[in-house]
Amino acid sequence: MVLIEVVNPCKPDTLFCHYCTNPVNERQIVMAMSRQKIIIDTDPGVDDALAIHMAFADPRLDVVGLTTVFGNVHTHQATRNARHLVEMAGLAVPVAHGAERPYQQAQRDPAHFIHGAEGFGDLPAPNPQLPVDPRSAAQFICDMADEHGEDLLLCPIGPLTNLAHALDLDADLPNKIGGVVLMGGAVTVPGNVNAFAEANIHNDPHAAEMVFAAGWDVRVIGLDVTQQILCTSQHLEEIALGAPGIGGFLRDVSAFYVRFYQDSRAFDGCCLHDPAALIAITDPDWFSYDSAPVTVIVEGEEAGGTQIVDDPDRPKVRFAVACDTQKIRDHFITTLKNTDLRFSER
Ligand code: BDR
Ligand code: CA
Repeated sequence: MVLIEVVNPCKPDTLFCHYCTNPVNERQIVMAMSRQKIIIDTDPGVDDALAIHMAFADPRLDVVGLTTVFGNVHTHQATRNARHLVEMAGLAVPVAHGAERPYQQAQRDPAHFIHGAEGFGDLPAPNPQLPVDPRSAAQFICDMADEHGEDLLLCPIGPLTNLAHALDLDADLPNKIGGVVLMGGAVTVPGNVNAFAEANIHNDPHAAEMVFAAGWDVRVIGLDVTQQILCTSQHLEEIALGAPGIGGFLRDVSAFYVRFYQDSRAFDGCCLHDPAALIAITDPDWFSYDSAPVTVIVEGEEAGGTQIVDDPDRPKVRFAVACDTQKIRDHFITTLKNTDLRFSER
């Protein structure tokens, strides 16, 4: 992110000075920065909802679209939920409907027991009016890559099926965009579906294998770090207090998800899996990475496992191995506490 040009409101012929006493609000400053363009590919989903509202509320990000996929819910539910999130934020971000089944393997059941029957915990199905973009998710990704080129990052926080289909549509995609920052995988730690696999990769290992082998700049934000980034019920209450509208919705949506953590891990809160991938984009210094070729096991009982391989012909990916959990969580809370304020500024 670069400060490109800010006109000094005191002396219009000079650039803005940080010591200038003339009131310049944050919006004016951010308007003068280059905001990172991203597409969030998502299966909302509770932690997806947390991540998406956080991204909408972060002035450093320009969300050019949401593309949807199965995983936590069926794809038609993901598309409906994504449209609801856009609508409630008062935005007009396009939502493109994505793949309804995995690239090759049989479809697994959605994770309703973690994210609720409709994907928003105990809440009933929303009924958004925002139209669906006429393009498929894969086509939308390719079109945005042509329009924005290296300025665009893909941020998948669900199974990687849409990215695999986009690679089929345009084999040159990896050379066009800035890269991929994804939530998924468990490179150096056990999985969360079973000992081998993390849920997003487990839901479509063949697609993940294509993405990991495609040769673009991939950053993997896996369970290696996301399981350490925790938010408590108290933090969610704090967010709801600061932003009763969107924050209150996120607190309510999360109650079911938190119950899953209470029952399965005796923890009164949840992991910030999907928000972590967005924060890796806005605040890269809070993460550190190892770099190696990583393959995805596509068959057998270890299917969905992500493994480092010693293969000089395979492109390397960067996978996060450590992060500043405190800064990440504080940023998450602060950004969402202010989300109603951002909404009122739109
Ligand atoms: C990932 O799986 C989904 O349940 C979450 O939304 C997250 O993307 C964590 O393994
Ligand atoms: Ca997700």
